[in-house]
Amino acid sequence: MQTLEFRGHDAMPILGLGTWKSAPGEVGAAVKSAIAAGYRHIDCAAIYRNEAEIGQALSECFTEGIVSREELWITSKLWNDSHRPEHVRSAIDQTLADLQLDYLDLYLIHWPVCLPHGQLLPETGSDLIALEEQPIADTWRGMEALLDAGVCRHLGVSNFSIKKLEALCAVATIAPELNQIELHPHLQQTAMLDFCKANNIHLTAYSPLGSGDRPDAFKAPDEPILLENSVISTIADRHQASPAQVLLAWAIARGTAAIPKSTNPDRLAENLTAADVTLTATDMAEIATLDRHYRYVSGSFWAMDGSPYTLETLWDEMV
Ligand code: A2P
Repeated sequence: MQTLEFRGHDAMPILGLGTWKSAPGEVGAAVKSAIAAGYRHIDCAAIYRNEAEIGQALSECFTEGIVSREELWITSKLWNDSHRPEHVRSAIDQTLADLQLDYLDLYLIHWPVCLPHGQLLPETGSDLIALEEQPIADTWRGMEALLDAGVCRHLGVSNFSIKKLEALCAVATIAPELNQIELHPHLQQTAMLDFCKANNIHLTAYSPLGSGDRPDAFKAPDEPILLENSVISTIADRHQASPAQVLLAWAIARGTAAIPKSTNPDRLAENLTAADVTLTATDMAEIATLDRHYRYVSGSFWAMDGSPYTLETLWDEMV
C-alpha cells in the first residue's frame, strides 16, 4: 500500500476506512473486517458518535494479535463545540478513552465553525459563534499543545479553504500537515491540490464515492450519482474493475489519500484493492471532464438563517 509521508518519516496508508455514517452495532464489525482485510488506516471523529464501538473493536484486534497499535494509523477530529483552547485537551482525552488508545496519529479541526461548549449542533443560526469571536489561531494553540503532551503525533484540519489554510499557516508554530476535504470527480478542487502540493500539506478525500448513504436532509433531489456515472463505468470496464475502484484509483493517482466508507466485507475488500488499479493518462483526461464543482456535503447546515456563517464565508468562494 502506498503511503503519504509526514514529519519524522511517519507514513499514512493512502487508503483508509471511513466511519462517518457507519451505524452503531455495525461499525465495530466493519473495523474488524477491514483490519483483517489489510486496512491499516481508520478515519474517525467524535461527532460520528461511534468511537467507543470502534475502540472496542481495536482492542479486540490488539488482544487477538491481528494487528499492533504501531501498525495502525488512526485519525480523529475535534468537534466544533471544543474550539476554545482549554477544551481541546478534554476533547481528545474523551476520544482516546473511547478509542481505548493512548495517542492518535493525526488529529484534525473538523470544521472552521464554532459552537458553544456542550452543544453539538445548532438549533438556530444564532447558536453559532463567529470565528472572529473564537479564532482558529487560538484553537490551533490548543492543538499544538497536544503534540508536546504526546497524545497525538500530527495535526491537521478539515473543510478548510485555501484562504483559511493560508491564514492558519501564517500564525501556526507547527503548520498543519493535512486538510481533509470532499474530493471526487464532480468536485476536483485542482487549485486546492496545487496549493497543498506547493505547501507540503497532504489532502484526504472524504466522500470519495459520492456518499450515497448520507442523511436525506443532505441530499438534493436531482443530485448526480457518482457510482453510476457512465464515464466512470466505461473506464471501470476497461480495467475489469468496479466504479468504486476507479474513483479510488483516481484519488490515489492525484496523490491524495481517500477514506471510502463501507460496512460490507466484500465492498471493504474491493475498495482496498483499488490501490492495484492504475489509470492511464486517457482515463485521467476523461475523468477531468467530469468536474462540476458539486458538493455532496454543502455545508448549508452551518449557514442557517441568523448564522454568522454563509456558504460564501464557509468555503471562501462564490456559491
Ligand atoms: P456500504 O457501507 O453498504 O458498502 P462515501 O465513502 O463516499 O461516503 O460512500 C459511502 C457509500 O458508498 C455507502 O453507501 C457504502 O455502502 C457505499 N459503498 C462503499 N463501497 C462501495 C463499493 N465498492 N461499491 C458500491 N458502493 C460502495
